Amino acid sequence: MNHNIAIDGPAGAGKSTIAKAVAAKLGHIYVDTGAMYRAMALFFLRQGIDLNDEKQITAACDGADVSIEYIDGSQRVILCGEDVSEAIREERVGNSASIVSVYPSVRTKMTALQRKLASLRPVVMDGRDIGTVVLPDASCKIFLDASPEVRAARRVKQLLEKGVETAFDEVLADIRDRDERDRNRPIAPLIAAKDAVTVDTSNMTLEQVINRLLEIYNAR
Ligand code: DC
Repeated sequence: MNHNIAIDGPAGAGKSTIAKAVAAKLGHIYVDTGAMYRAMALFFLRQGIDLNDEKQITAACDGADVSIEYIDGSQRVILCGEDVSEAIREERVGNSASIVSVYPSVRTKMTALQRKLASLRPVVMDGRDIGTVVLPDASCKIFLDASPEVRAARRVKQLLEKGVETAFDEVLADIRDRDERDRNRPIAPLIAAKDAVTVDTSNMTLEQVINRLLEIYNAR
């Protein structure tokens, strides 16, 4: 049995915070696959490519050299030699990632990179299609969910902590758009794997969620 943990779920369900904590407790490496799609999106944005033009995106894909490095245990995303770990956190980049991640050319490239990382060491990998497509053999699969309102409220709080004031309604609308796109795309849509355990974090503290995941992992 492998020790990989696949965590899928919609934007703002708390995947990355939880996955990071679980990875640290188990000595696994944490792989944030959303960050890779964000790096691809940043590349296309910088090239001035129309994100809705699949032909242009597919033609440009090869030029996007995305790799992952670990510095003091934390994942850094390198785009064509530049550390873009901070630049990819912008809202506009996240929304663009949701748009370009529908294209097969982008998904094929990212899936290969993700599988390669998982072949090196046990991972806690989070994303949208990890339990269904990227690591279908992961021995522990979690689907982390929370209501759109709770996710929007968390996002507003996070942004405020960074000094960015945003309107709740605007963030909620973005989250609903992103959910719609991520769940309804034809390839690798956001969906719980048949053998995933769903954890609704709406009314749970961070610590409760982490403990629940460790419980599920230990019981597998
Ligand atoms: O988790 P995130 O917000 O950083 O992800 C940004 C977008 O990337 C998300 O809206 C859809 C896409 N994505 C994907 O299609 N598949 C993944 N495994 C991870 C992210």
